[in-house]
Amino acid sequence: MTTIRTICCLGAGYVGGPTMSVIADRCPDIQVHVVDINERRIAAWNDDDLVKLPVYEPGLAEVVGRARGRNLHFSTDVNAAIAMADMVFLSVNTPTKTRGIGAGQASDLRWIELCARQVAEHAQGHTIVVEKSTLPVRTAETVQAILGSNTQGRSFVVLSNPEFLAEGTAIADLEQPDRVLIGGEDAAAREALASVYGRWVPRERILFTNLWSSELSKLTANAYLAQRISSINSIAALCEATGADVNEVARAIGSDSRIGSKFLKSGPGYGGSCFQKDILNLVYLCRHYRLETVARYWESVVEINTWQQERIAQLVVSRLFGTVTGKRLAVLGFAFKANTNDTRETPAIRICQALLEEGARLAIHDPKVDPDTIASDLGCASSDADGGWQFCPEVAAAAAGADALIILTEWDAYASLDWAALAMVMRHPAWLFDARGLADLEAARAAGLKVWRVGLGDPSLVLAA
Ligand code: UDX
Ligand code: ADP
Repeated sequence: MTTIRTICCLGAGYVGGPTMSVIADRCPDIQVHVVDINERRIAAWNDDDLVKLPVYEPGLAEVVGRARGRNLHFSTDVNAAIAMADMVFLSVNTPTKTRGIGAGQASDLRWIELCARQVAEHAQGHTIVVEKSTLPVRTAETVQAILGSNTQGRSFVVLSNPEFLAEGTAIADLEQPDRVLIGGEDAAAREALASVYGRWVPRERILFTNLWSSELSKLTANAYLAQRISSINSIAALCEATGADVNEVARAIGSDSRIGSKFLKSGPGYGGSCFQKDILNLVYLCRHYRLETVARYWESVVEINTWQQERIAQLVVSRLFGTVTGKRLAVLGFAFKANTNDTRETPAIRICQALLEEGARLAIHDPKVDPDTIASDLGCASSDADGGWQFCPEVAAAAAGADALIILTEWDAYASLDWAALAMVMRHPAWLFDARGLADLEAARAAGLKVWRVGLGDPSLVLAA
């Protein structure tokens, strides 16, 4: 069996950074080099102040603090790290293509291809190359073809090892994974990778499949999870129309052990770097294999998600007498979920853009997202004009003079806000739009706020109608 002494990971992002930190923490005898072409990102990973790590994840700073400098290294010297490594993880970004064939659906593999070429050029001896990024099915074939064209006495094996961590709980997910999936045919390479995880993951949780099953499992897992969210969000709209409560429906169906209670929380739609991208990949794949009906089935999961975001923006406008022009609206939460500073595909983008388009003045609060990221996501710098946005470091400041509070991320702090104090500084009639279903509605109502909560219908109105 190949003994792994040195690992290199290309890509120090939300997946590569935390994953390699946990591997280094759990395997003190393995030297782990995480490399990235982004100098600012690497400098942040090396910052003495662990609060400045580029990725915010509960528990991450402690793990990095223990391993960094011992056997965990962050650097921009990609080629040297490849040359030292027995095992190279590819953990670079694979966004959806914006132009050319498959634009809007297929993944842009240019970074993966570049990495494969770099590995082909700089690796020494026998190297196991592990796909970590979410990739379209059969990408390993491409990587293998590139590696195979430049052997010069070296040898390569490609494995697929998709990452299932969720942001916000990444460290717990990595330390106690439901399963680790390893795809590939080469028994020695599979065992080498399994022995790395085997230091802390029970053997029965390490699953082996062929390469394509592994790649397809990742897309399918994300598509299933996203489909659960679109399903419950579609039912939320029906609850609002009929006087039911989606939380009650979720609890009732979730206690059926065949359905299960997780991932049934209605909200403003899913965000994050994976769900949309992976479903679109699946759709592209189905169309490629002429499975049009299957493609349309999965495409509808994305349609419901977009619709939910548009629906929420529209109902805010309609409750505020049909116009928000010049009105101050406090947006609470910009990250795509709590406990992360990541805003990729966050529902806040589409909802805020729609409200800005209507001329609203947004006062945006988020405990972890920085204003530069918001500016880049919204495509405009902050401004105090109609149709502009400003960042507010405190909720109370965001609420001052606002006609509405709109909760878009389920940060814990938003569950226990002082509604009476906020209501006092708002302009009345003042609204609370709770798109995450976390606020104490009774307390908000008692403070004089009008309230809308996702998936909560009013039975009396329906009966009266
Ligand atoms: C997801 C998968 O969970 C993970 O396994 C994969 O590796 C990457 O993609 P992530 O996107 O980080 O992880 O977070 P996740 O917890 O899955 O949430 C995704 C989105 O769905 C968030 O916007 C979240 O707010 C939303 N969501 C989740 C709901 O709206 N309701 C739910 O019940 C659960
Ligand atoms: P993910 O959520 O999949 O981790 P990120 O965008 O957070 O995605 O991280 C991917 C990282 O990969 C980025 O920091 C990017 O700079 C890095 N990257 C892209 N191409 C290369 C490359 N050729 N070599 C090293 N790092 C790369």
